[in-house]
Amino acid sequence: MPTVIYPGTFDPITNGHTDLIERAGKLFDQVVVAVAYSPKKQPLLSLEERVELVEQATSHLDNVRVTGFSNLLAEFVRDQGASVILRGLRAVSDFEYEFQLADMNRHLAPEVESVFLTPANHLSYISSTLIREIASLGGDVSEFVAPVVAEALNRKFGRS
Ligand code: COA
Repeated sequence: MPTVIYPGTFDPITNGHTDLIERAGKLFDQVVVAVAYSPKKQPLLSLEERVELVEQATSHLDNVRVTGFSNLLAEFVRDQGASVILRGLRAVSDFEYEFQLADMNRHLAPEVESVFLTPANHLSYISSTLIREIASLGGDVSEFVAPVVAEALNRKFGRS
């Protein structure tokens, strides 16, 4: 299978995301991690910071490319010459939103398919929001994110 696009805000990338990228890397020739600008989410980290952290957290993987985007995902997928979008499903609660997103993307780009993978069970309760909150309150997030990400969060919250 050729290229898959894995979009998200990655504010910041967690071990759950990396787990999914590793799984996708075994199924597809190339994984393009597409870091969304996502101004509506008012990310803690800038787009440049998020792209850099995803690059560093996935540097052990040969067939992964990381790029930021600020246009429509359906357009971005076409621009990349790809036809598959990957999303993660951690729990049933993810399903409703993912179903809506997949349907809308199908409407916007009928030739593009969405596929879903689940992360390892022990990573299914991680979210970027929880990681940001724990780090902001001085908690230890090193179990849930790559060391470079933990360092970046500590710097952000003035702890190193
Ligand atoms: N492990 C851990 N956490 C995971 C995860 C995994 N495997 N998969 C998802 N998550 C978490 C994320 O950390 C995030 O947590 P948060 O909300 O607490 O920060 C949450 O699940 C969902 O975020 P994410 O996967 O980053 O998706 P998103 O909802 O922020 O992004 C886009 C959705 C970027 C794909 C969508 O907004 C988009 O396509 N934007 C581009 C503009 C566009 O085309 N809009 C129209 C879409 S039809």
